[in-house]
Amino acid sequence: MKKLHVKCSVFVFCFCAAHPFNHLIDTLQTEKNKAKKYFNPQKLGDPKYERLPFSIRVLLEAAIRKCDGFYVKQEDVQNILNWEKLQNEAEIPFSPARVLLQDFTGIPALVDLAAMRDAVAKNGIDPNLINPKCPTDLIVDHSLQIDFSKCAIQNAPNPGGGDGHGATQRSVPGRLSSRSSQCGSSRGGCSKGSCSDAPSKQRCFEMELIRNKERLQFFKWCSKAFKNVSVVPPDIGSVHQVNLEYLSRVVQESEGFVFPDSVVGTDSHTTMINGLGILGWGVGGIESEAVMLGQPVSLTLPQVVGCKLVGSISTLATSIDIVLGITKHLRQAGISGKFVEFFGPGVSQLSAADRTTIANMCPEYNATVSFFPVDETTLKHFKQTNFAEEKLEVMESYLKAVKLFRSSDDQAEDPHYSEVIEVNLNSIMPSVSGPKRPQDRVPVTCMKEDFLSCLNEKVGFKGFHIPREKQGILVPFQHEGTEYTLSHGSVVIAAVISCTNNCNPSVMLTAGLLAKKAKEAGLTVKPYIRTSLAPGSGMVTHYLNASGVLPYLSQLGFEVIGYGCATCVGNTAPLPESVVDAIKEGDLVACGVLSGSRHFEGRLCDCVRANYLASPPLVVAYAIAGTVGIDFEKEPLGLNAEGKEVFLKDVWPSKEEVQDVEEHTVVASIFRALRSRIQKGSPFWNNMDVPDSVLFPWDPKSTYIRCPPFFSKLSKEVSVPGSIDNAHALLFLGNKVTTDHISPAGSIARISAAAKYLQSKRLTPREFNSYGARRGNDAVMTRGTFASIKLQNRLIGKTGPKTLHVPSGQMLDVFEAAERYQRDGFPLIILAGKEYGSGSSRDWAAKGPYLLGVRAVIAESFEKMHKNHLVGMGIAPLQFLPGQNADSLELSGKERFSISLPEELTPQQELTVLTSTGKSFSVVTLFENEMDVAFYRHGGLLKYVARSMLQ
Ligand SMILES: *[C@@H]1O[C@H](CO)[C@@H](O)[C@H](O)[C@H]1NC(C)=O
Ligand SMILES: *[C@@H]1O[C@H](CO)[C@@H](O)[C@H](O)[C@H]1NC(C)=O
Ligand SMILES: *[C@@H]1O[C@H](CO)[C@@H](O)[C@H](O)[C@H]1NC(C)=O
Repeated sequence: MKKLHVKCSVFVFCFCAAHPFNHLIDTLQTEKNKAKKYFNPQKLGDPKYERLPFSIRVLLEAAIRKCDGFYVKQEDVQNILNWEKLQNEAEIPFSPARVLLQDFTGIPALVDLAAMRDAVAKNGIDPNLINPKCPTDLIVDHSLQIDFSKCAIQNAPNPGGGDGHGATQRSVPGRLSSRSSQCGSSRGGCSKGSCSDAPSKQRCFEMELIRNKERLQFFKWCSKAFKNVSVVPPDIGSVHQVNLEYLSRVVQESEGFVFPDSVVGTDSHTTMINGLGILGWGVGGIESEAVMLGQPVSLTLPQVVGCKLVGSISTLATSIDIVLGITKHLRQAGISGKFVEFFGPGVSQLSAADRTTIANMCPEYNATVSFFPVDETTLKHFKQTNFAEEKLEVMESYLKAVKLFRSSDDQAEDPHYSEVIEVNLNSIMPSVSGPKRPQDRVPVTCMKEDFLSCLNEKVGFKGFHIPREKQGILVPFQHEGTEYTLSHGSVVIAAVISCTNNCNPSVMLTAGLLAKKAKEAGLTVKPYIRTSLAPGSGMVTHYLNASGVLPYLSQLGFEVIGYGCATCVGNTAPLPESVVDAIKEGDLVACGVLSGSRHFEGRLCDCVRANYLASPPLVVAYAIAGTVGIDFEKEPLGLNAEGKEVFLKDVWPSKEEVQDVEEHTVVASIFRALRSRIQKGSPFWNNMDVPDSVLFPWDPKSTYIRCPPFFSKLSKEVSVPGSIDNAHALLFLGNKVTTDHISPAGSIARISAAAKYLQSKRLTPREFNSYGARRGNDAVMTRGTFASIKLQNRLIGKTGPKTLHVPSGQMLDVFEAAERYQRDGFPLIILAGKEYGSGSSRDWAAKGPYLLGVRAVIAESFEKMHKNHLVGMGIAPLQFLPGQNADSLELSGKERFSISLPEELTPQQELTVLTSTGKSFSVVTLFENEMDVAFYRHGGLLKYVARSMLQ
């Protein structure tokens, strides 16, 4: 390698030159705050601005503010402004305001930063200068959750968090129901056994904390040592949505400037934040690391589908009906990879919780984001979550000043969209499912008709085959001294369960308020009906109680019977004998109505043949009616004490009523509880010893956290990577090699190179854990590179994680072969076919090959994101000329390759490859711009950033 000084080889942000968009700076004057500066895109004087979708305006503002001529160019700003013409064409940079990490994916990024501190310190530079360049929040819940499932911790009736035990697993049903797999408590087999007794649960939790201590200590050190890093510790609460909300700022502030909040996160639920007008989506570990290092995310200027909401929501529809209804429309519309932005008069009918739930469904309809611009509802939401007044003032006046605030009723504000999908909220039908399978949806309005037809139909999913003459049978029976009658369709079990979907508080509150109004109207539930209330967690009881509806539920018979999924199955007390006898006597199709969504097949009771899933308020309604054979529009629910008919619509709470109660009791209490937990911390976290050092004290014995060797030869000067001489092909691969082949995430095979390493550290296979959990240890990850048993390497002609070490002719683990080549001074390349690196982005898929000594990958084509990662790690992505590939060039993979790289690299350059067998062919460098070239010259983004500190 040649050493040479390259003039201005590092494009440090040079504050000597004026910001190219200086002239757009405005000052925000507010009553309660100091004046703040901001970039006002309206001052571009371009009428196109007001036609841009709001989500695109966020991208534009970021480009203006971050324009530095290197990462972001003036041309990018123009391109975004020209969205209408260039959508789906231009590549644009986006610098999100902050990064959200979860522990699994966050570890490698933070380990790299810690290693960077070591590297600059060795060069005599103050390591304190190394910090993420934007606020980075790390939420520790992921790895623990996974480990916890083994523990089978059950939800605890523990509304305020208190000691916090179990909080990580417990799903406090934030108002924003969405992480449905988490809501309720049916994970981890929590039905029986030790998990239900508190002391062992606590032991279990502590054991897990101790098992994860190395990683937790590292996180705590990060939160103390780095600026711009904050960590939400493990036992604070895993409620992703609440954490997100706790962390969201809507308007960010830095160095005297205000700007819109935006985020990239390493979690697919990141998209839910768009419901609050905060642009954000999920990215891979390496992209989030790049953002932390100051590099923007690159994306194709997206198309934006406007989803126009019109009409009004039918009374009986709950949030769940709305969310599922809108999701269904979007799924049918085919909007893969696009932005969706909501507008139209219907938007204001959706609460902030509804919006985030819809936004969280993005993966269902495959949109990048579902964006709800900030409006009065959003503001009200932040007021309710006790946002400081000064902040609210800045939020509102800034967003209004740059036209990022909207009133969805004002059509004149509607931007242009790539296409518009109209959803009429009228068309969203409240439904129930049954009588035998959850997928058999029945609109509530058709319920009576549907049930009657089920009686007729032959026995099947939708049939009971009751002879016509027996369909009208009435069977009298005695219960506690009073005579009642049962008929087909009689409800005998009614269970309100806050489970999965139904953990949205507005839905549970609707049930509670309905109970209150019904009780006040003099309605009752017949005493022979087995009624029960199983809140998914203590939090549900807490807010039902706080909002004053719990006593009414209980007066109607809906008493809290316990927590956890045991109740989901409907483990209620047995039915009264007289009821069972009456059912048998009349061979009746008696009904159970419950608001769970799982365990549908697990029948409530043998003698109950029809089971319906309904929203919690409808469960209460059917219990009061005593039958599912009711048309709520035409028939009364029951009679009051004076014998007057009371209809469902008389007692169904309005949306406004529910929203009001929700905002006052639920939102506030969740936030208060969370804040106090965060302030208090937990004893385990608070007591954990962490050094106050600037440099991380790496523990040589740790098998989870190790200082990666990315900076081992860091010096001030760029050692421009010279030509690649006499390289061996480490692997000879075919088409569609995925990141999962390159860096498998699953368990560590007992005979793998990584296993040998871990065994040498005296770990037993039981303690290996997965590659995913060991991402903070480069030694494991490098050995795990290409360790997929599905790898098809043409050098060995069979499937498996092996390769041919050409000089010796031996077949070795890929790592061992690479190690030998490196020892003998051979550079390495990889030969591949089409779409190299497809599949999901994976941080180690580029880092691993780099540490194996791979200098270039020659392929027919690359997956774009992975190609960027290779460049980011200083590996050259080289493409065969069109029409050529390893076969057409008759390469065996056993020859050696020499690639001459000129001193002045340029993007998209043709290079010549000579082989030891005397062949010569051309490849093209897939560097897209001078930024790529700079990263490559510096040996990757990490070194580039570290070196910019040295200079
Ligand atoms: C923290 O992030 C902000 C961006 O919000 C950035 O301006 C600042 O320089 C960062 N702090 C450090 C110490 O890097
Ligand atoms: C989702 O979008 C991605 C990216 O646009 C696309 O590759 C994928 O095929 C889509 N999946 C579905 C199920 O539509
Ligand atoms: C409901 O709240 C009251 C006081 O606000 C409390 O005394 C009572 O124990 C609570 N009930 C339940 C079931 O949480």
